[in-house]
Amino acid sequence: MNDIDKAIQLLQAGDVVAIPTETVYGLAASITSEKGLQKIFSIKERPFFDPLIVHVSDVEMAKTLCLNWGETCEALAGAFWPGPLTIVVKKNNKVSDLITSGLDSVGLRCPSHPIAMELIRKLGSPVAAPSANKFKRTSPTKSSHVVDEFGDEVYVLEGGDSQVGIESTVAAVFEDRVEIYRPGMLTVDDIQRALQRKGLVLPVSLAQSPVAPGQLKHHYMPKIPVGLCWDNSAPNLSGTVLNDLHADEIAAWNIGAEAAEQVARKLYSYFRDAEINGKKGILISLPATLKKESVWAGVLNRLDKAKSFEVF
Ligand code: TXA
Ligand code: MG
Repeated sequence: MNDIDKAIQLLQAGDVVAIPTETVYGLAASITSEKGLQKIFSIKERPFFDPLIVHVSDVEMAKTLCLNWGETCEALAGAFWPGPLTIVVKKNNKVSDLITSGLDSVGLRCPSHPIAMELIRKLGSPVAAPSANKFKRTSPTKSSHVVDEFGDEVYVLEGGDSQVGIESTVAAVFEDRVEIYRPGMLTVDDIQRALQRKGLVLPVSLAQSPVAPGQLKHHYMPKIPVGLCWDNSAPNLSGTVLNDLHADEIAAWNIGAEAAEQVARKLYSYFRDAEINGKKGILISLPATLKKESVWAGVLNRLDKAKSFEVF
């Protein structure tokens, strides 16, 4: 039996499986298995008020889960699926309250990773999958990260390194507007342009999600403190948790010297490697001009959630 068939067997038996996606690894269960869905929450130690996103193999499968797949969804899926965009729409009764935490909407995503795609297609039904990490921890971008997190509790489908590296952009679609609940590597500008190309004139804005969890302050935190250093090559760390450390106990990275896509791809591995290599703290240097560039919004959002302090 090949790996995908083994994973399908586990999903059909109500178990969970870690799957590679282009953003981060996910912890998947069939949406038809109450037992599998429950297991996601229990082994992640995730509170039930944080809804799961549902992964589909194509637009047809997405349409089976929502009340009304309108022209805005069609335009966004046409432009970005398969890919790192989660579309939040009104759900129908095929999606259980356990998945959506009782909300009347569901997040839908069609991942572009060939293994995830093949798995969902062969299973013939959608899978719910949050990132495959314990609640509040950084997401895994390699199979070894998942093993570090869950040991042999979870079967992991090997799919290499996640190429995007941070979680999908979450966009809620309303009749008169699109709200971005979580920025990612697909930007507000990308989304605006895709809608305009289809003649759709809707405001697209960054907004507060109606569910707080993904936006919790201490989400995405590594186990060692992260300092952000803005516009300063020789920061004064006095008064910070890094102050008492020796220079070689600190992992230091100047991210402004690289492209946003490259930084996103490496970010979570960098955090985990620093911990594994015995560093006691992380110092990320970056120019404040990045705040003006929408391509950096996803990375800056994750750094903001990961940080213990900032120096200027
Ligand atoms: O890239 C990704 O999105 C990865 C891969 C595995 O697909 N998944 C992921 O899932 O990051 P998770 O559960 O870690 O994050 C999904 C986010 C959460 O912050 C959740 O609160 C939000 O999406 N979300 C899910 N359903 C929602 C809904 N109906 N309304 C608003 N926010 C929702
Ligand atoms: Mg997550």
